[in-house]
Amino acid sequence: MRLLYEPPAEDSPSLPLIRLYGKLDFPPPYPERPYIFVNMAMTLDGKVVSGLPGFLLTGSPADRLGMDELRAAADCLLIGAGTLRTENPVLHIRHPALRQQRVSEGMPENPFYAVVSGSGRLPAESRAFSTPAKPLIFTTRQMTEANRKDLAGRAEIVITGEKAVDLPDMARLLRERGVRYLLLEGGPNLTFSMLEAGLIDEFFITLAPLLKGGKDTPTLLEGEGFAPGKVKRLTLCSIREHEGEVFLRYRVNRPA
Ligand SMILES: NC(=O)c1ccc[n+]([C@@H]2O[C@H](COP(=O)([O-])OP(=O)(O)OC[C@H]3O[C@@H](n4cnc5c(N)ncnc54)[C@H](OP(=O)(O)O)[C@@H]3O)[C@@H](O)[C@H]2O)c1
Repeated sequence: MRLLYEPPAEDSPSLPLIRLYGKLDFPPPYPERPYIFVNMAMTLDGKVVSGLPGFLLTGSPADRLGMDELRAAADCLLIGAGTLRTENPVLHIRHPALRQQRVSEGMPENPFYAVVSGSGRLPAESRAFSTPAKPLIFTTRQMTEANRKDLAGRAEIVITGEKAVDLPDMARLLRERGVRYLLLEGGPNLTFSMLEAGLIDEFFITLAPLLKGGKDTPTLLEGEGFAPGKVKRLTLCSIREHEGEVFLRYRVNRPA
């Protein structure tokens, strides 16, 4: 047992908030798919919705900085259709120095983004469809002609799967397009499906000192849940704290 944190003495210096994660040291991507990491925030009771606008659960400066650092490390940002329908998320890196750093390394200012939607029913007016790089929509044969027309010219539509998007195939296609690092920003249904498909390597979780409650409030993972023998195990990589918010980094254990 180790005590990792206790409130600091009044006079102990706190480091300035210049970087939250700093060097991320991700391993190289796989030949057949990108290295995939998740960034989500939850309350102490595991809920991912706080009532604040946008899917930023806390909106704190440290959480925003961490989110930007993780985006800056990604070639592509992936979100589920449910998140796009309930929010109008800001999908670019807000921190100018992090954007500049990417440009100096020969990368585009922002990662391009991709959406998973079985139905292809997406709000064409979302700010997500006015980014400089056209987003990719991974969808199924169930996408209707009307939905396709709505998004015409705003996005590139990729069909993979009959009723559900074939997530391993999506990951393979992204790798083929040069994506080495893929950041998944939820929501809880897509994150469950990605984890179930063995497609998540790491979790970056902001634990906000909030309690939300509500049996219908979504938690970090939704979906069917794992059978007892299939429950996922993770290995703790790091813990950071800023003003009562805790930033956890965990690696998903690979099956032996
Ligand atoms: N706190 C956080 O960090 C955070 C982050 C993100 C989101 N959120 C919150 O989470 C809520 C949304 O959660 P959610 O679980 O409903 O949304 P979600 O996971 O973003 O999206 C679910 C949708 O994604 C599509 N999808 C997922 N897996 C699929 C598969 N294998 N094949 C085909 N389609 C698939 C389906 O779209 P179709 O219905 O189009 O078929 C499904 O309805 C929002 O309230 C948002 O604010 C919180």
